[in-house]
Amino acid sequence: MRILVTGATGFIGSRLTPALAARDHDVAVLTRDADSYDGVADTVYEGDVLDSGSFEQALTDVDTAYYLIHSMGSSDDFAERDRRGARNFREAADEADVERVVYLSGLGEEDDDLSKHLQSRREVEEILSEGAFDLTVLRAAIIIGDGNDSFRIVSQLARRLPLMVTPRWVRNDCQPIAVDDIVAYLVGVAETPETAGATYEVGGPEVLTYEDFLDRTASVAGRPSVIVPVPVLTPRLSTYWVQLTTDVSNDIIRPLVDGLRNEVTAEDRPIRSLLPIELTGYDAAIDRALDGDRTETVGTRVSTKLDGTTPQ
Ligand SMILES: NC(=O)c1ccc[n+]([C@@H]2O[C@H](COP(=O)([O-])OP(=O)(O)OC[C@H]3O[C@@H](n4cnc5c(N)ncnc54)[C@H](OP(=O)(O)O)[C@@H]3O)[C@@H](O)[C@H]2O)c1
Repeated sequence: MRILVTGATGFIGSRLTPALAARDHDVAVLTRDADSYDGVADTVYEGDVLDSGSFEQALTDVDTAYYLIHSMGSSDDFAERDRRGARNFREAADEADVERVVYLSGLGEEDDDLSKHLQSRREVEEILSEGAFDLTVLRAAIIIGDGNDSFRIVSQLARRLPLMVTPRWVRNDCQPIAVDDIVAYLVGVAETPETAGATYEVGGPEVLTYEDFLDRTASVAGRPSVIVPVPVLTPRLSTYWVQLTTDVSNDIIRPLVDGLRNEVTAEDRPIRSLLPIELTGYDAAIDRALDGDRTETVGTRVSTKLDGTTPQ
């Protein structure tokens, strides 16, 4: 299959590209700076989805395109940029007769006052769904892996603070997933025609609270900590506190901390029935992420998951 990966230099895209190449797909990538791309793709296109005319060539003869772009961190108007980028991409994919687009979105119930970041992810879903191509959407919560900003916040808090005073919503449920498992699902849906046009929720093997997740991360890191949830810690105060403790940029922290108030668990039976990959346990996923998970072997790990698993 001829595949285009957008966001190929990012946390997910940089792992997805070698996983697709390892399965003999013909992979092209899109980046805004081709000179700095150092991945394994057969073809590299330079272009910016916010700049019509600059990126369309990348979609020539493409069967399936992955849309793995977001603008969070670039400025406060990330939602407007993401809206514009998705519209431009949809129009270009239609023009190029792309058959399928796969988009990775965020979990969360729409009637649960979604954070601005999660609302923006859903808005991109809607914009892409208006294309003539078949859209497949995967919705995920925090993805556990080295280099992911949301996991970096969790791991740095867990490792740096012996005592954590946290907002009340650390008791909210979440269902993180290991990056290898997300990549396996992303590859798997493209190779499974029945998933065309469908939306799936994906998650790891357990539902746990953010408090448990911080605890597990601290314990895998060998730095047990005491967590004290307090009702008075506002989103603004918790943002300051995360800014003081971690090295993640403020433009990323604000929307991510805001999203902690949303419960993010997955009804994953539909995807499990089609792709029953063996999900990575949290301790193993955290351990691998803290150890700087080696992306060069992701292709082998993902192929093993896709080919060597038995239905549950
Ligand atoms: N990470 C998570 O925990 C998580 C959880 C759920 C869903 N997701 C979703 O997964 C997708 C990928 O996330 P990620 O964590 O891999 O993001 P990331 O590491 O921040 O990478 C974002 C990518 O977007 C590309 N990009 C940004 N603006 C662009 C533009 N105007 N034109 C072309 N490319 C542009 C960047 O490529 P260049 O700089 O090379 O141009 C970069 O590779 C997003 O849709 C995100 O919402 C992520």
